Amino acid sequence: MTTRPHDPVDLSSRAFWSQTAATRERSFAVLRAERPLSWHPPVQDALFDDPDDPGFWAVVRHADIVEVSRRSDVFRSGHGVIFENVPELFLEATQSFLAMDAPRHTMLRKLVSAAFTPRQVRRISDGIDADAHAVVAELAAAGTRADFVANCSSQLPLRTFSDMMGIDPADRAAVCEAADDLVSWSDPVHLAGRDPLDLMAESTVVLHEAATGLAERRRKEPADDLMTNLVQAQVDGQRLTDDEIAAFFVLLAVAGTDTTRQTANHALHALTTNPEQRRWLLDDFDARIEGAVEELLRWATPVMTFRRTAAIDFELGGQKVAAGEKVVMFYSSGNWDTAVFAQPDRLDLSRNPNPHLAFGGGGAHFCLGNQLARTQLRALFRELFTQLPGIEAGTPDYLAGNFIHAVRAMPCTF
Ligand code: HEM
Repeated sequence: MTTRPHDPVDLSSRAFWSQTAATRERSFAVLRAERPLSWHPPVQDALFDDPDDPGFWAVVRHADIVEVSRRSDVFRSGHGVIFENVPELFLEATQSFLAMDAPRHTMLRKLVSAAFTPRQVRRISDGIDADAHAVVAELAAAGTRADFVANCSSQLPLRTFSDMMGIDPADRAAVCEAADDLVSWSDPVHLAGRDPLDLMAESTVVLHEAATGLAERRRKEPADDLMTNLVQAQVDGQRLTDDEIAAFFVLLAVAGTDTTRQTANHALHALTTNPEQRRWLLDDFDARIEGAVEELLRWATPVMTFRRTAAIDFELGGQKVAAGEKVVMFYSSGNWDTAVFAQPDRLDLSRNPNPHLAFGGGGAHFCLGNQLARTQLRALFRELFTQLPGIEAGTPDYLAGNFIHAVRAMPCTF
């Protein structure tokens, strides 16, 4: 095991991840300027301790994050992509091809992409507009001071996911609850005394059963939904197995819901605290919303970290990374890198170009749902500013964690 000294900047403790993003950025700024690659002890108070874990390399510069993302031949995903150690069995059951490498990743991603036919994408987009309209109408009915997270931002992505997959109305509440449990294991309020690993296991079982049941029904009775396409999809004579379908279902239930929810939370807050930017957007909403969403994604950076494992010795950012070592990409740092973004701490909805890393740094694992997420965010803000033009965010209640930049609750007034 390596005896390399640890960097004095703390990125591993719970205390570090309990600070605000702005405070954490001070540490990242030091590392970006002085030590673009730095060696750190393993995550402290992790969910699952690995006594053989020597620590990780922190990759904080935009250019290096892009290199790690694009060199998936060197920086592999198959040993896990979450910053914290996660039990092997859990990886298989929940992360699908997110935590796989070529050639299996390539084949599964191709199969799934084949299910997103132009007709499906059109159908999903029309559904998003209708869902956004309904969700905002429900928020309006809940009244001023309602929690924006519970009543709005968490609702739209869950509905998109359910509609897209074709989940039967009777099963939706249970599936949405399990999806919510699976993304909330780090929230002590949500846990309410339950063991996080138990909660993860239970919600994974619920989602797997829902997925396999639905797959079986769609094989017998095809419908116009993504699950039908998933059971029918074929690439080079190969089809997805039930386990592969279930793991993909779980991946989408998590990757496609919490991320969009958190972006919407940070976005409403940013548009409240930057009224001149909001006025600029509203002066020509249709022409400006597309670029504005890119800046709001950069600002929110809802996925803060992803990890890789080096397959071979490799020189990165002037350091020698040895085969087998963990490399963690800090997207939130890359999105504040002054080598790429002028005045990154300024919300500038007209920023162009805006090569943010919210969906990853490119390459084989680049977010498959990026267009869907952008469509949801545009639809949601169009509805919010149409139905509730005076809406403002109250103080967000942030959740400590090193993976998702999460807001637990946030009141809103209108
Ligand atoms: C604002 C919302 C979203 C953000 C910030 C986000 C972010 C990310 C990031 C950072 C990655 C990893 C990229 C990499 O490793 O290079 C990823 C992968 C992925 N995302 Fe998203 N995502 C969002 C929404 C969605 C949605 C709506 C879906 C689907 C409905 C989705 C499906 C996926 C899938 C399937 C992968 C795995 C791709 C692969 O490994 O090949 N995401 N996402």
